[in-house]
Amino acid sequence: MRVSLPRGRWLGSALALALVLPPRPGPAATRGMAAGTAALDGVLQERDQRVQPAWGPRGMVAAGEPHAAAAGAAMLRAGGNAVDAAVATSFALSVSLPHATGLGGGGFLLLWLPPGPPGAAAAERPDCRTIRGRELALGRGRAVGIDFRETAPAAARGEQFLDAAGRVDRDRATRGLQSTAVPGTVAGLLLAQRCYGRLPPAQVLAPAIDLARRGMPVSRSLSQSLQAGAGLLQADPTSRALFFPAGRPLQPGQRLRQPQLAASLERIARGGAAGFYGGSTAAALLRLMQRGDGPITAADLAAYRARPVTPLRISFRGHPVLALPPPAGGLPLLQLLRLLEPFDLAATGANSAAGLHLLAEALNLVFLQRNARLGDPGPQPFNAEPFLADAPVAVLRSRIDPERHRPAAELLRQGALPQEGETTTHLSVADRRGGLVAVTSSINFAYGNGITVPGAGFLLNNHMDDFTTRPGSPNAFGLVQGSANGIAPGRRPLSSMTPTLVFRPDGSPWIATGSPGGSRILSAVAQVLLNRIVHGLNLAAAVAAPRIHSQLLPERIQWEEGISPDTLALLRRRGHALQRGAAMGAAQSVEVIPRREGGGSYGVNDPRRAWALAQPE
Ligand code: DON
Repeated sequence: MRVSLPRGRWLGSALALALVLPPRPGPAATRGMAAGTAALDGVLQERDQRVQPAWGPRGMVAAGEPHAAAAGAAMLRAGGNAVDAAVATSFALSVSLPHATGLGGGGFLLLWLPPGPPGAAAAERPDCRTIRGRELALGRGRAVGIDFRETAPAAARGEQFLDAAGRVDRDRATRGLQSTAVPGTVAGLLLAQRCYGRLPPAQVLAPAIDLARRGMPVSRSLSQSLQAGAGLLQADPTSRALFFPAGRPLQPGQRLRQPQLAASLERIARGGAAGFYGGSTAAALLRLMQRGDGPITAADLAAYRARPVTPLRISFRGHPVLALPPPAGGLPLLQLLRLLEPFDLAATGANSAAGLHLLAEALNLVFLQRNARLGDPGPQPFNAEPFLADAPVAVLRSRIDPERHRPAAELLRQGALPQEGETTTHLSVADRRGGLVAVTSSINFAYGNGITVPGAGFLLNNHMDDFTTRPGSPNAFGLVQGSANGIAPGRRPLSSMTPTLVFRPDGSPWIATGSPGGSRILSAVAQVLLNRIVHGLNLAAAVAAPRIHSQLLPERIQWEEGISPDTLALLRRRGHALQRGAAMGAAQSVEVIPRREGGGSYGVNDPRRAWALAQPE
């Protein structure tokens, strides 16, 4: 797809912008300045950026928790590829990061692998043949996605969270058993492992089993998070016994042992997906459902399948960028990049008012499309043309005024394009052959709905709240969504999660990234990419830089600590309402270093998470 340059009003305004803006040094100019100090090279040995990524001579795992990152790196050392490492890290996170993800949740995985022999067993399997049919060729290798988002049970009804007066019952939508959709994590990770991994599944599950059985010292951040989640967790007897054994949250340094979760993981290691969706783990979940008002049945569990998906692809400034179609959050991210591509963001500079204004306005337009048009397309391939092709993107772009904020009411009146159609966690892996995997997974809120399955030891998601509970009513992330994302049996709720891969212009692998953060995932990932690709920051600086977020409604820019007061004043002058927000996202990212630059990889743990780790192989 080619980008047609915007015309008319935009071009006029852009010209005006160029005239009023003093020239700023872009990345190229900055490099020029560094060259000017060549005489000092090797004497002062200063670095040009404030933060530096971790480096490794071979592969790298960046994950939200150190035991899990170590589990993945151990797979790389044992001869596994990026998929083995990502799956081992994910299963380990389901033990060590119980507030963010788990066997009771779901998510999305995006992989790119260089050519290599598929495992003999994998080549035979019908599900692996199906997934191969969804692959996208890119550079020397192939990419594919796995949608393991949770699915509404057969008993789900569009109006299930409305009270007698037609109001949304927020408690029912987020806290009880009805808030839980059929979990997808186990099916998704196992599908990736058996079709693309090299190591036996039991080896890949071993670190998670060990972590659950032998336990791990509770970190300060987990202890603080348990304290913050006390209301939710103490309401459930199994969660209370697990996390509050002496009536108070486990303290830093105390051991968290999860023997029931260990047994559930062992059943998966022995029986594969059937060891979770059937057998005694399923029986434990069904007993819990039957004791309460839980809608999930044995048939729902048996019917769950992870979906192989062909990634969406655009080119941004010459770089192929891959992300996943709905219900994942990749389409809005790619649409945002397409909208912003022709603007001279390098000239405005990173985190300038002019640049942040353009970003916020583009985000609002993208959220307008998302809220009105997107929902689970079902198993059939998603047609992205009406959202990403030149013509619709040009129409949307013409609605951006570089000088003034366009109020939400005005954008909503214009409508979406005519229809032609401290939770969650992200991990990124690079292996020594340049294989890349990005996985974002979630149970939605911190600790999901707080209910631990007795006898199986995992927390349940509350992802039914990501559906539109009622058109026009905001969900937990303030998203005001439409009927396209309505609840129906077998549907998957729309997500913002967007594992993303970026390639060098020659098609060689470059970056794997993604983030938690609910609706702010889109803006967090976009800003990492803009900082790296447009502003030339290194990966660590690109991740660390302060972020903003805007999502059309509520109508304001949220900003993180670090955006300067005079930038905020300039944004206010353009008509934006502003609100200081909490830290946004946690973009654990990796980058492959080309062989001509010495090879190996960089890894970044987002400084917004004190306890994350980038672990070299
Ligand atoms: O899928 C989604 O869009 C959300 N349920 C993700 C939740 C999340 O990222 C929470 N993070 N802070």
